[in-house]
Amino acid sequence: MIMALSLRIIITCFLLITATASSSPPPGAGFTIELIQRRSNSSSSRLGDDGSSPYADTIFETMSYLMKLQIGTPPVEFEVELDTGSNLIWTQCLPCVNCFKQDSPIFDPSKSSSYKPKICHDGPDHSCPYAITYMDDSYSMGTLATETVSLQSTSGQPFVMTETIIGCGHNNSGFLPTGSGMVGLGWGASSLISQMGERFLCLLSYCFSGKGTSKLNFGSNAIVAGDGTVAANMFIKTEKQGLYYLNLEAVSVGDNRIETLGTPFHALEGNMVIDSGTTFTYLPGSYWELVKEAVDSAVITDRVDFMGDKLCYNSDSIDIFPVITMHFSGGADLVLDKYNTYLSDGGMYCLAILCADPTDVEGTFGNRAQNNFLVGYDPSSLLVSFKPTDCSALWN
Ligand SMILES: *[C@@H]1O[C@H](CO)[C@@H](O)[C@H](O)[C@H]1NC(C)=O
Ligand SMILES: *[C@@H]1O[C@H](CO)[C@@H](O)[C@H](O)[C@H]1NC(C)=O
Repeated sequence: MIMALSLRIIITCFLLITATASSSPPPGAGFTIELIQRRSNSSSSRLGDDGSSPYADTIFETMSYLMKLQIGTPPVEFEVELDTGSNLIWTQCLPCVNCFKQDSPIFDPSKSSSYKPKICHDGPDHSCPYAITYMDDSYSMGTLATETVSLQSTSGQPFVMTETIIGCGHNNSGFLPTGSGMVGLGWGASSLISQMGERFLCLLSYCFSGKGTSKLNFGSNAIVAGDGTVAANMFIKTEKQGLYYLNLEAVSVGDNRIETLGTPFHALEGNMVIDSGTTFTYLPGSYWELVKEAVDSAVITDRVDFMGDKLCYNSDSIDIFPVITMHFSGGADLVLDKYNTYLSDGGMYCLAILCADPTDVEGTFGNRAQNNFLVGYDPSSLLVSFKPTDCSALWN
């Protein structure tokens, strides 16, 4: 999910690696919190020096992907949504002012010996408030704290991150009961990858399949290479902190290649956010119309009229639909499986590439379209790699 109300953050991954980004606050952000990241000396004893890599098990749940992580001392396991489109780790926290229904018990900071509220000097009670609103109007509000967060590691020992900045959410809304919060995996300072430490170079990979379990890998284990791997250029924008951009040059519907050139969507340095926390893919209106028309002219079945902006057909077979290829700058021509681009919906099939909000000039490359690619983010090389992979077979 993309954060609408951004936190003001110091850019860790990119200060470390490329030194190209500045930490100027986003213009017009009404509510900002400065998160200064301090590495305690204890972090030097963290795992990873031995070449092991942290990882997390992931679960597909109602169109989103959850990852398992442990919070507190003694550690309590939570399943939280993994989101490359935001930059804060948060979980619902007692006492609740307004919590959404959650299947697992809500985190109780009073039961954790490593929980420490962050101190801010301007607040009346010296607490550090945060507020995040996501694109779908879901939100979390609460206070920042430092806490021990643990993942798994290829070493077999837990990967323990002491004094990790997390949000303790007391007023949260718009989430499904299966999850307990979010893990931001952007490149901003408060994200999970930024807080892991330099050694892991903010490397991250996942392989989504729309069923079962998989793994989210970090560090050297997240390098995506080998037969069939293609790489797209990654772009970062200082005014859109923490987001990863790709640049969409064209979409092919069958053999019909529709260039972005000549449309307002055309850009040279990133026009699409790659986002694990958004299900569908969105294109801005004028360009989406071109893609929609190309799909419509390739499908012989009559379309369903009453679906508004959605392009749907009465069909019980996905075979009648054209293959869609997305062409990203850098040489990544991603031939998408039909499952990635068409959605079965009660006797109909609908295009899973949707029209973005009229105010959006940028698109979003969502998790469904990324299915059955091993996707690797490498901010230090400014590349996102894609390797066609049977993701459900990979981990089982
Ligand atoms: C970190 O800890 C080591 C050993 O415990 C010590 O020698 C070193 O001076 C510490 N560094 C800082 C910056 O405190
Ligand atoms: C929770 O936050 C929402 C959004 O700002 C606000 O409208 C609501 O009043 C808050 N709920 C409580 C109980 O404070």
